[in-house]
Amino acid sequence: MDTHPPLSTGPTAPIALFDSGVGGLSVLRHVRQRLPRERLLYVADTAYMPYGEKSTALIRARVLWLAQRLLAMEAKLLVLACNTATAAAVRELREALPTLPVVGMEPGLKPAIDVSRSRRVGIIATEGTLRSEKFRLLLARYGAGAEVLTRACPGLVEQVEQGALSDGASEVLLRRYLAPLQQAGVDTLVLGCTHYPFLIPLIRRIVGEEMAVIDTGEAVARQVQSQLQQHGIASLAEGVGALRFYTTADPEPQQALFRRLWGEPLTLERLPP
Ligand code: DGL
Repeated sequence: MDTHPPLSTGPTAPIALFDSGVGGLSVLRHVRQRLPRERLLYVADTAYMPYGEKSTALIRARVLWLAQRLLAMEAKLLVLACNTATAAAVRELREALPTLPVVGMEPGLKPAIDVSRSRRVGIIATEGTLRSEKFRLLLARYGAGAEVLTRACPGLVEQVEQGALSDGASEVLLRRYLAPLQQAGVDTLVLGCTHYPFLIPLIRRIVGEEMAVIDTGEAVARQVQSQLQQHGIASLAEGVGALRFYTTADPEPQQALFRRLWGEPLTLERLPP
């Protein structure tokens, strides 16, 4: 990155979250609930979705480019609401923009080990997350306390992006990916991709109510809150902050899905160039 844009770190500036697509909305929901006064920008990099099977170099380039765009929109804090993007690029992003507070995500292995009684934990995530160095380090740090089984889930993100949250094809895929974990006696399942919380009702239908299901959205929202406090940039505004939704592709075909997953009327805009 050759330029270092001025940082707009005032309390009135917005927080920006991004993901390859709609997955980060599962994180946005927690951030919104915890920090209702904050102005929030959400960006879906739909033009490059899915990230999970893309090269690390490409994801890094996308993350750095999007971060520049969001800084131009005066973001005061960036949330990588995507495990794959965090695994590929959070370190490079922090190096490139050292004064910008960045919150990333990783699969909730530690909380999973804390709750697992069988000491067998399953993690479902994208190929990109599971093959990353960051994930290897996570396993090395926390994995010793339990047997950890991982499973990449190609095709699942695309199902969510099509709004197929409970159809037959999504169920077939999920059953195939979850069966080996269930057979191995896993009692705790980590959702290592922000798209997967939208599949929780279907996952529950397959694994039942006994399995602990770990989603890190709430932990990320707490982390965002603590960063805002630490940097003295929490919004002091009265009332509820504005919320804006952007995509890097044509907004029209995506609009209905965004409304459905967010559960409220909204206007999806194209990310300004
Ligand atoms: N939602 C992203 C994650 O948390 C990945 C989705 C994708 O493959 O684009 O990993």
